[in-house]
Amino acid sequence: MINPIISKRKNFKKPIKVPGDKSISHRSIILGSIAKGRTEVSNFLTGEDCICTQKAFQALGVEIETYFGNPDNPTLRINGNGIYSLKEAKEDIYLGNSGTGMRLLSGLFAGLPFNTKLTGDESLSSRPMKRVIDPLTQMGANIASNEGKAPLNINGTNNLRGITYHSPIASAQVKSCLLLAGLNAEGVTTIIEPEKSRDHSERMLEYFGSNISYHSGSLEVSIKKSEKDLSGQIIRVPGDISSAAFFMVAGAICEDSEIFLENVGINPTRTGILDVLTMMNIDFNVENIRDEAREPRADILIKSSEIKGCEISGNLIPRLIDEIPVIAILAAQANGTTVIKNAEELKVKESNRITSTVNMLKELGVNVEETDDGMIIEGLAAKEFPGSSSSTDKIVIDSHGDHRIAMSSAIAALQSSKPVEILKSEYVNTSFPGFFELLNKEEARA
Ligand code: S3P
Repeated sequence: MINPIISKRKNFKKPIKVPGDKSISHRSIILGSIAKGRTEVSNFLTGEDCICTQKAFQALGVEIETYFGNPDNPTLRINGNGIYSLKEAKEDIYLGNSGTGMRLLSGLFAGLPFNTKLTGDESLSSRPMKRVIDPLTQMGANIASNEGKAPLNINGTNNLRGITYHSPIASAQVKSCLLLAGLNAEGVTTIIEPEKSRDHSERMLEYFGSNISYHSGSLEVSIKKSEKDLSGQIIRVPGDISSAAFFMVAGAICEDSEIFLENVGINPTRTGILDVLTMMNIDFNVENIRDEAREPRADILIKSSEIKGCEISGNLIPRLIDEIPVIAILAAQANGTTVIKNAEELKVKESNRITSTVNMLKELGVNVEETDDGMIIEGLAAKEFPGSSSSTDKIVIDSHGDHRIAMSSAIAALQSSKPVEILKSEYVNTSFPGFFELLNKEEARA
């Protein structure tokens, strides 16, 4: 792929429809594959991460029909035969770049009576899996790893036991992994989190008829094996708020701009970015709020704004963890300083996102200090990004193979004094296929 080079833009006025939510797309394949009956998933995210999960279940014998011809509404039909119809895969299961895929599937496969080997790309193979291996082992699972990292060799069993697990981190991947293991364990499996992480698994497990008990405000969730199979459902996936975040920031930082984002998921465990927009004085409006398949969604209008710095910390962090690189771009355009704290989880994302976000800002010419659990960003008060002293006629940013750093750099380019070239941008396809095309569409130009 040729490295994209993006230039300054103003008067960015366009309706944008971002692709389906990644977390919900993964979960819809998983639950559709273990349910009985047909599950139809529309607005499915065809990013590489979710396609790996789709292929994983096909390798285990699940019949999945894909209708990806219409890019505006990719659809999946899963003809589920119940959890016990899954069979050992003939080959290793490759999960690409996807931490969600690997952690959620390890929970499910630990409780099924066959062996599975889960592998991933270089980034995924360096990410911590002990956070799921340890509690699964307490449940009676048998998982061999490469010192707590992938590949994972799962020697499945139907003798898992429910446990009460006080998770040391607010992680939806850990929580969802244990819920999926709990579907097949004797007794009750309870997870208690230090702060609330995204609750898509809870909502969807309830929608499919599992024996789950949780309350939206609570940090505790429990699940028991059901006597009956889960039953197939209709799911229309909302647009991914994490993908919409790039265009929210574009609308706020580009001069004379107004961006209308259609059909964005606004599950309250994911809307930390909207709280930040309010704290930073952004002119935006959430309209047409509706609910479908237990997931709220809305349209969001964002306008060019005079941005104010703020502090982002505490229980806000899990509600915007994936948006921090692009929030850093917003902060770098603010009047005043922005402090991001308690975000040490960023160190174990697709790259060390504290370091890669700080490096991106330094290349853009922003004064930024890296801290142990976040960063301190000095805003440029709406001045164009000047580039670092080493940049010549263009600013070059290495995404470190991290999709969210690549997309955040592209948004920064819209307000830069020199064109921005992005290295290793192909990773954008893991979560947002078509991102650069959408950004460059003629109608989106000044
Ligand atoms: C996800 C949970 C989050 C998030 C990731 C997707 C999920 O990770 O960063 O992109 O779908 O459960 P953690 O649960 O590890 O924080």
